[in-house]
Amino acid sequence: MKIVGLSGNVKRPSRTASLVEAVVSGIGDRIGGQSRVIELVDAAPVLFKALRADQLDTEGRAIIDAVEAADVLVVGSPVYRASYTGALKHLFDLVDYRALTGKRVILAATGGTPLHGLMTEHQLRPLFGFFNAFTLPTAIYATEADFTEYTLTSPAVRERVERAVSELAQVLPAIDPAAVRVSGHRPALVAAQV
Ligand SMILES: Cc1cc2nc3c(=O)[nH]c(=O)nc-3n(C[C@H](O)[C@H](O)[C@H](O)COP(=O)(O)O)c2cc1C
Repeated sequence: MKIVGLSGNVKRPSRTASLVEAVVSGIGDRIGGQSRVIELVDAAPVLFKALRADQLDTEGRAIIDAVEAADVLVVGSPVYRASYTGALKHLFDLVDYRALTGKRVILAATGGTPLHGLMTEHQLRPLFGFFNAFTLPTAIYATEADFTEYTLTSPAVRERVERAVSELAQVLPAIDPAAVRVSGHRPALVAAQV
C-alpha cells in the first residue's frame, strides 16, 4: 500500500508538514505500507514551471505520478486567506481528473485561529468531492498552540489523528477486490472502481 502525504506549506519549518508527518507515521504504525511526504515548499517551484499537465518536466511528472499512484493520501495545508494554499491547488490542477477516484484521503490543516477550523470542510473536502475520492469523516485541524517548536504536542489533536487513522483502518479492506470477493460483499464504492 502506498501512502503519500501532501503538505501545502510554502515555508520550512512547517507546522503543517509536521502534522501531515504525524498522520502518515500513525498510518505506518497501525497499518504499514510504503510512505513518503511531499511538501509544496519543494514541489511548487518544480510544478509552477508547468501551467498545464502536458508541460510538466520529468521531475514534475514524477511528483504528479506519485500522487496519482497513491492508495492513500494525507492532504494537509496551512490556512491561507481562509482556504488551502494556491501552491497546493496548482498541484491538484495538474492531477488527472480520473486519477483519485475511490482513493482514501485524510484531510488536515493548520491555522493561526481556531475560527478557520472548518476550512477542511468548506474548502478541502469539496476538492476531493470533485475527484470522487473517499475522504475520511475525521479531519484534523491544529493551531500554533498545538505545537512546541513545530512538533505536534497537543493530546487532543493527537487523539484526532488516531481517530482518523482508525477510520482509515476500517475502510481499507474494501480497497482490495479479493477481500471483497471473500466476504461476498461488493460495496458500491468498490463496484465503481473495478
Ligand atoms: C499568507 C498567509 C495567510 C494566512 N491566512 C490565514 C487565515 O486565513 N486563517 C488562519 O487561521 N491563519 C492564516 N494564516 C496563518 C497560517 O495558517 C498558520 O500560521 C499556519 O499554521 C502556518 O503553517 P506552516 O507552519 O505549515 O507554514 C496565514 C498565514 C499566511 C502567511
